[in-house]
Amino acid sequence: RKLVGKLTTGCEEFDEMMGGGIESQSITEMYGEFGCGKTQVAHQLAVNVQLPPEQGGLGGSVVIIDTENTFRPERITQMVNGLSEKHGVEYDPEEFLKNIHVARAYNSNHQILLVDSASELANELKDSEMPVRLLIVDSLTAHFRAEYIGRGTLADRQQKLNKHLHGIQRFGDLFNSCVVVTNQVMSKPDAFFGDPTKPIGGHILGHTATFRLYIRKSKGDKRIVKLVDSPNLPDGEAIMSITTDGLGD
Ligand code: GTP
Ligand code: MG
Repeated sequence: RKLVGKLTTGCEEFDEMMGGGIESQSITEMYGEFGCGKTQVAHQLAVNVQLPPEQGGLGGSVVIIDTENTFRPERITQMVNGLSEKHGVEYDPEEFLKNIHVARAYNSNHQILLVDSASELANELKDSEMPVRLLIVDSLTAHFRAEYIGRGTLADRQQKLNKHLHGIQRFGDLFNSCVVVTNQVMSKPDAFFGDPTKPIGGHILGHTATFRLYIRKSKGDKRIVKLVDSPNLPDGEAIMSITTDGLGD
């Protein structure tokens, strides 16, 4: 078993709450309402993972399985420029974009297959300068939610989601990679998915995701990130900001 890596979020409180950062070989689930910032955190992690360990990165590349077509290269450029300012170094956004491998998932079956493609790529890059150290699935649940409607299919959906989660956990173990998935919660009670404060996927995700982060909006650019039911860390809350430069304190 390789030494667990820790990936900085760019927000000190957030990192501290996580015991140093997002852990490799684990699944970290971010859940919260639309617009709370899940995709923004994902973008920032895709930048930060490329930094050397001295700067909180893992010196690696990233695969993003994008199910909602929300990946924005321009946003990466802004975040890299933000980092340049923060570190007093001239980073080249294009160099960062080269190490972000984005795959668009068209449906849940395709999404599951893309984990195999991610593994192939990670195998190819294993001994390169930029091995894959982060896998993002944004959103983990949107396709499943859209495709499995009605109580009769609930068991099928959970079974398939479970299989998918095992696949991404294996990816994390195999490549000593961080795995970050997003999951939307409903702002209003939902007849099918029930409790609006509980993430879609309910129980199964509850057991699989090692770190569960509930993100909610606060004043202005502030967001509250809450660590929920972590097996080895105390529950806690951190305040982060989302600005033009990216994630910060
Ligand atoms: P869903 O995918 O709909 O569930 O939402 P999400 O949780 O992924 O939200 P997302 O990460 O897309 O957050 C959107 C919010 O991030 C916006 O409302 C803004 O507050 C902030 N944001 C997005 N882009 C920028 C940007 O370029 N600059 C700044 N300052 N804030 C941004
Ligand atoms: Mg999003």
